[in-house]
Amino acid sequence: MQTLLVDFDEGRVDTWRHILASVSDVTVIDQCDNIARKAAQQRFSAIIINNRCLARLAIAADQLLPRLHLKCPWVACVVQQENPIQVASAYSLGFDDCFFEDSVDDEILVKLRRVQLFENLSRQLERAQKLESIGELAAGIAHEINTPIQYVGDNTRFIQSAYVDLEAVLRNCQALLEMADQGNDLAPMVTTLRQAVEDADADYLCEEIPAAIRQTLEGVDRVANIVRAMKEFAHPGVSDMTPTDLSKAIENTVMVARNEWKYVADTETKFDPELPAVPCLPGELNQVLLNMIVNASHAIGESLGESTSQKGKITIETKFAPPFAEIRISDTGAGIPAANLERIFAPFFTTKAVGKGTGQGLAIARAVIVEKHGGTIGVESAVGKGTTFTIRLPLEMAPNDANTPELNPTEVRV
Ligand SMILES: Nc1ncnc2c1ncn2[C@@H]1O[C@H](COP(=O)(O)OP(=O)(O)O)[C@@H](O)[C@H]1O
Ligand SMILES: [Mg+2]
Repeated sequence: MQTLLVDFDEGRVDTWRHILASVSDVTVIDQCDNIARKAAQQRFSAIIINNRCLARLAIAADQLLPRLHLKCPWVACVVQQENPIQVASAYSLGFDDCFFEDSVDDEILVKLRRVQLFENLSRQLERAQKLESIGELAAGIAHEINTPIQYVGDNTRFIQSAYVDLEAVLRNCQALLEMADQGNDLAPMVTTLRQAVEDADADYLCEEIPAAIRQTLEGVDRVANIVRAMKEFAHPGVSDMTPTDLSKAIENTVMVARNEWKYVADTETKFDPELPAVPCLPGELNQVLLNMIVNASHAIGESLGESTSQKGKITIETKFAPPFAEIRISDTGAGIPAANLERIFAPFFTTKAVGKGTGQGLAIARAVIVEKHGGTIGVESAVGKGTTFTIRLPLEMAPNDANTPELNPTEVRV
């Protein structure tokens, strides 16, 4: 756990370091102008800002504090004991907590421990959700591979038995040629050959064997494609921002999630050919896309009810919309009631039965898109008609999060 201390003077920094030592490592910056950049570079569990920054922060607080909150679960301020104006302005700026500078005691450690516990639990839940969806996917993918493998097997067995019949025909052909070479009477051999051709049902075999071979090769291609999509979907080891072909990422995710949607929906993809590679964390983005496709399938399944003859539709589009790359995921599912729209991104909000929903998918999606990519995620929905999620990812991301607005030193007034 790391705590960032901002703008404390030298003597007090040591006191704070000492106080926090039992629960946290401490990073110090002596100017509040750099908080956003620092928070973008490194993960902090807590940011504690000295009251000297309050006036400076007030200028950009409406942009800065929400951004800090996205990067860090707990942003607190240390105020002067006798200064109610500082207390009021700290809370009105949106700080999570205030502490008096002369009476720092166990309270702050209790709070920090709580933040730490929350962080650990969130991380565990995120992992659990990932593992759960990997488990679900694995079962679906096994099924997806099983189907082509089954018809590859059936066709190969058919070719095997057809070959036995054909072999009889070929052997008789050979015998006929030998007899012709020796100048023998061919008539009895021709009768035998004709019988073998009849027994083998040669017309039927000539039609069916090429079809069986074609299907077998299709099955083999299908398995190879699924395996390739899985490998690309998993993106082992890529944990840095990587220029990514979104069309490919979407195609792979649609492919590995096929077993989730194919019974309830058709899918359509419309990719903008203008869209360049987008810097992103491919593994995390795939996870988000997967969650959204699964959600769309569930929503369509819900709206179809018992009907098995009908299907809904999931449409995934990309658009080059500088300075963003846009991904729209639309479904013709049950829709989201207006009262729930505000809540769907909250951790643990779910309308699904236990075992089907954990309420973590969209919370993670928001963390990945907004927090890790500096993008946005929006939703439009009409009950009974369907839902569209729109993800916007910045096309350019300078090192250390150029999207994070810093306090402009020229605007600072103390
Ligand atoms: N495409 C969608 N259509 C309708 N409702 C949706 C859709 N996506 C999400 N929701 C709603 O948002 C809730 C939260 O979604 P999510 O965070 O993925 O959790 P979960 O899928 O585990 O319930 C869902 O339970 C559902 O009510
Ligand atoms: Mg979900």
